[in-house]
Amino acid sequence: MVPAGRMQASDMLQDWVDDEKMLRHALAVEGVMRYCAEKDGKDPFTVRKWGLVGLLHDLDYQEYPQEHCRKSEEIMREAGYDEDFVRAVVSHGYPVYTDVKPETMLEKTLYAVDEMTEMITAAVLAQPGKNIEDTELPYIMEKFNDESFAVHVNRDVTRKASELIGWSVEQIAEVTLAGLKTVSYEAGLAGEDEEDE
Ligand SMILES: [Fe+2]
Ligand SMILES: [Fe+2]
Repeated sequence: MVPAGRMQASDMLQDWVDDEKMLRHALAVEGVMRYCAEKDGKDPFTVRKWGLVGLLHDLDYQEYPQEHCRKSEEIMREAGYDEDFVRAVVSHGYPVYTDVKPETMLEKTLYAVDEMTEMITAAVLAQPGKNIEDTELPYIMEKFNDESFAVHVNRDVTRKASELIGWSVEQIAEVTLAGLKTVSYEAGLAGEDEEDE
C-alpha cells in the first residue's frame, strides 16, 4: 500500500497518541512537511506523502518512548505502509534512537524540520501573545543560540541536519517558521485569544 489516506493515517495516529501536545506537534510537522514539498514544486501525491510522514513520525513516542522509531517501524509495516515511508519515519531518530541515517530529501527534510518545530513552538509560547504571526526569524535564532532556553530541544540534531541537507541552521529555521505559519491553529500557535474561543 502506498501511504494510506489522511483519514486512515489520522485514525492510526489517534490509536496511539492522545496527548494534546503531541497531537499538535504531529499536525505542526505535517504542515511544515507539506509546505516544504510544495515549495519544492512536488506533485500533489508527493505533497500528501510528505505531510503524512510528518503526521505519523512520532507515532510510537507516547506509548514506547524507550523504543521510539523501532516500534513505529513495526506498527507501520504491519499496517502495510511502503518501505520508503517507514524508512523516512524511522530515520528521524538518527543517531539517538536508530542508526538509519536520513538519505533521501524526504528523510533529510523531516530530520531538519522536526527538532526546529519543537524549537519554534517553545519560542512562540514563551512570547506574551503566543502568536506565531508576531514571531520573526532573528528572535528564533536568538532562542536557538541561547542553550539555556528550551533545554529539551537538541540543537546538535539541527546542526547535524544542517550538514546533511546542506541548509544553514538559519535556513532551516526560516523554512520551518514559514511552514508553521500555514498551520498555526492546528499547531496551537495562533495566540491565546484564538485558542480560548
Ligand atoms: Fe521523534
Ligand atoms: Fe517529532
